Amino acid sequence: MVNVLVVGSGGREHALSWKLSQSPKVDKVFTAPGNGGTENNVNISVEDLDGLADFAQKNNCFTVVGPEAPLALGIVDKFNEKNLKIFGPSKDAAQLESSKIWAKNFMKRNDIPTARFEIFDDPQNALDYLDSVDYNVVVKADGLAAGKGVIVCNGKDEAISAIQTILVKKTFGDAGNRIIIEERIDGIEASYIALSDGEVAIPMASSQDHKRIFDDDKGPNTGGMGAYSPTPIVDDTLAKKIQENVIEKTIQSMTKEGISFKGFLYAGIMIRDGEPYVLEYNVRMGDPECQPITMRMDFDLFDYFSSSAEGNLSALPSPTWKNQSAVCVVLASDGYPESYPKNEEITGFDSIPSNSFVFHAGTKKQDEKILSNGGRVLGVTALGDTLDSAISNAYAAAEKISWAHKFCRKDIGKKGLSYL
Ligand code: AMP
Ligand code: GLY
Repeated sequence: MVNVLVVGSGGREHALSWKLSQSPKVDKVFTAPGNGGTENNVNISVEDLDGLADFAQKNNCFTVVGPEAPLALGIVDKFNEKNLKIFGPSKDAAQLESSKIWAKNFMKRNDIPTARFEIFDDPQNALDYLDSVDYNVVVKADGLAAGKGVIVCNGKDEAISAIQTILVKKTFGDAGNRIIIEERIDGIEASYIALSDGEVAIPMASSQDHKRIFDDDKGPNTGGMGAYSPTPIVDDTLAKKIQENVIEKTIQSMTKEGISFKGFLYAGIMIRDGEPYVLEYNVRMGDPECQPITMRMDFDLFDYFSSSAEGNLSALPSPTWKNQSAVCVVLASDGYPESYPKNEEITGFDSIPSNSFVFHAGTKKQDEKILSNGGRVLGVTALGDTLDSAISNAYAAAEKISWAHKFCRKDIGKKGLSYL
């Protein structure tokens, strides 16, 4: 038996801890720093790599990293140097997410389908370039900007103001020292996540996120307001195309360039006329995609994590998935993704039906009460025999939860229904 340390504090990390704690091979699951729903919280920040390594060493832990920040800082390299077991990509491999420019150039030189683009550090050159294109653009800050450094523009005026925001006003700090201006691709988005050991890549169940704050994809981008799995948008033909032309090609091209990619590889895909284009890579599970995907797992996730770390995933059988749909509705604090109140008491957990599970994100426990402590607060996740019934079950469960400034989208999963 081994202990597991899950690094992170969001809904994704609660889902991973929940699933890993069901493994007969796992003794105790710790979460650092965790949230109001996770057990055995350890008060170490996700960026305190030495602190995490000390804890893992003293407590005989296999470590699983949820968010991108510690991966970009090189947590996996540090743990490997100390002979500590860890699941996730190295710092070099994490560049696929930590530098959008690195990722775009990687895709270009390896012929992985993505939107046309140019890179700028000089605002005037960027503005001049706008005159030379006759399509809508997306302006992206190069570095990590907590999911906010991407501005999807409608027309030239918005593109000019996006360039000013990132490159002149430096709203995202040094993450915006360089920008990408790329073609806006209008299509349907899906998340395609696979698990790799550097050689093979096992696809996880398909899913779709809902990034905008309001119904019908209105309002600003967020970390994700809800997700469901599987998504009918990714049919077998498309899944095969993405698996071969994006995922396997990425893993093989990384190897060819001397970088072994281990961990979750998440391709944010835009589908236009049946063809997939990579909008972005993430080197971790999606949040909230992780919540419905995890609910559908009918296998021991710990086996897959340890085999990924050891480089022998091909020895495992294909993972089996519950033949049901899962829907996660994110309950947020009103005002998110801008400012929002905190420390409001949340009630109703005892009334959640057995087909549902409430994953915590921005919560904390205080004197046996659960208080809101972030923008995305809970992910109410339900199974159902069809997508329609999973949606009804998730919203029925979400209704049971109350706090003063609770807010959620009312249309999670609806886009999927229109494809059935
Ligand atoms: P990213 O962080 O790069 O995934 O971008 C955040 C969101 O911006 C994506 O989920 C898309 O909704 C949108 N987006 C990014 N790039 C493009 C693009 N080239 N065309 C259209 N939408 C895009
Ligand atoms: N849900 C999108 C992400 O995790 O980046």
